[in-house]
Amino acid sequence: MKGIIFTEFIAFMEAAHGPDFSDDVIYESGLAERAAYTSVGTYDFSQMQMLLTAFCKKSNSGLPDALRSYGRFLSRTFQSKHRDMYAQYPDIIEFVSSVENHIHMEVRKLYPDAQLPRFDVLERTPDRLVISYRSCRPLVDLAAGLIEGSAAFYGQEATVRHRRQVADDGEFHIIELDAQQAVLQ
Ligand code: HEM
Repeated sequence: MKGIIFTEFIAFMEAAHGPDFSDDVIYESGLAERAAYTSVGTYDFSQMQMLLTAFCKKSNSGLPDALRSYGRFLSRTFQSKHRDMYAQYPDIIEFVSSVENHIHMEVRKLYPDAQLPRFDVLERTPDRLVISYRSCRPLVDLAAGLIEGSAAFYGQEATVRHRRQVADDGEFHIIELDAQQAVLQ
């Protein structure tokens, strides 16, 4: 997993609970100190799981909620770091529809060893999008938070729900996005 996902998770903990809380989580997770992570490095996902587990225990939150909140935070980082990627799209439906074939393709150019999920568009109208999410990692709630947070870039309210599906070739998730167009000023 790319280091940016770790370094931003540490920034997320600091923003939400302060630096002492963040240091305690890193210590209690059993991981080496934070200086070990760089945004362009690649680290085992098991290390992220250790951080997430320690964070949930210390903040008394469930994993789905923690991942969703972190996804919203991470989307703000992406919006400032990769503003051009957002600015090419007129709204959240078009943006999320393009993650598989454009956004994550660009990500792969920046980080060739990134292990990215797969999204397929199943249904699309101007205010609703249904996609499937396939990944070897249990991060569907991170995707939900990234979508919710990204909607803010377009000044839109978004409701994101997901459910697990089992198919012959393994399990995947269906993500439903309902977006309200912002009132233009
Ligand atoms: C400009 C916007 C975006 C950028 C720059 C970006 C970049 C990245 C990067 C660097 C990773 C880490 C890959 C790795 O660890 O090897 C990642 C993973 C991920 N991205 Fe994106 N992403 C963007 C938008 C989105 C959006 C809108 C979604 C939701 C639909 C999304 C869903 C995910 C998920 C769920 C993962 C975790 C990997 C997994 O589930 O297997 N990303 N992305």
